[in-house]
Amino acid sequence: MSASLDSLMAELERFGESNDAVTVERPRRMLNITRDTGEFLSVLVRAMFARQVLEIGTSNGYSTLWLAEAATDIGGSVTSVEFSEFKVKLASDNFARSGLSSVISLIHDDAGRVLERAAPHSFDLVFLDSERPEYPGWWSNLRRVLRPGGLLVVDNAISHPEQMAPFVALVKADAEFKTSLVPVGNGEFLAVKARR
Ligand SMILES: C[S@@+](CC[C@H](N)C(=O)[O-])C[C@H]1O[C@@H](n2cnc3c(N)ncnc32)[C@H](O)[C@@H]1O
Repeated sequence: MSASLDSLMAELERFGESNDAVTVERPRRMLNITRDTGEFLSVLVRAMFARQVLEIGTSNGYSTLWLAEAATDIGGSVTSVEFSEFKVKLASDNFARSGLSSVISLIHDDAGRVLERAAPHSFDLVFLDSERPEYPGWWSNLRRVLRPGGLLVVDNAISHPEQMAPFVALVKADAEFKTSLVPVGNGEFLAVKARR
């Protein structure tokens, strides 16, 4: 990672922490992943050679930048979906500052609608970090848009186990997927799709 990007990431970490410490309304909180989760995602993108990455839940773009920095290293790109106009503006400004805008497509829309429209097998890796009660309703499209051998990564699996339980049960019951719970950051639930 370049020194200027590292400095932007550190600035976003300070901003997220100070903003969320004093902000009660959820739509105004950044709710960013932890730095070690960013490092984990960066390794996964490179290890999977994940050139087509989908992120659901951009916020101000902190996690997107981790994904994009890794994707650009392997000639890939990131599509990130966010429905809040306020967050889209923050993320756009951060992407412009990062120098990674050319590999990021920011979609201002509801993730459910974007998933409906997405082509089958169009993503190598999907990072899901949005409103957890929505996840079970999105599962049929999430599994459809992942390519064979593709990877789903879901944040907050350890920090919010009750909210995650219905989704985790659905994925675990799906014979096409193998899963693992990784104790990084707020807990990452991984599900890899069979290669056939
Ligand atoms: C936990 S935050 C994402 C944090 C971000 N991944 C990061 O680590 O920097 C969840 C985001 O999902 C957005 N969101 C929630 N429901 C959504 C939906 N149905 N479609 C698109 N975005 C949604 C929220 O506005 C919020 O910005």
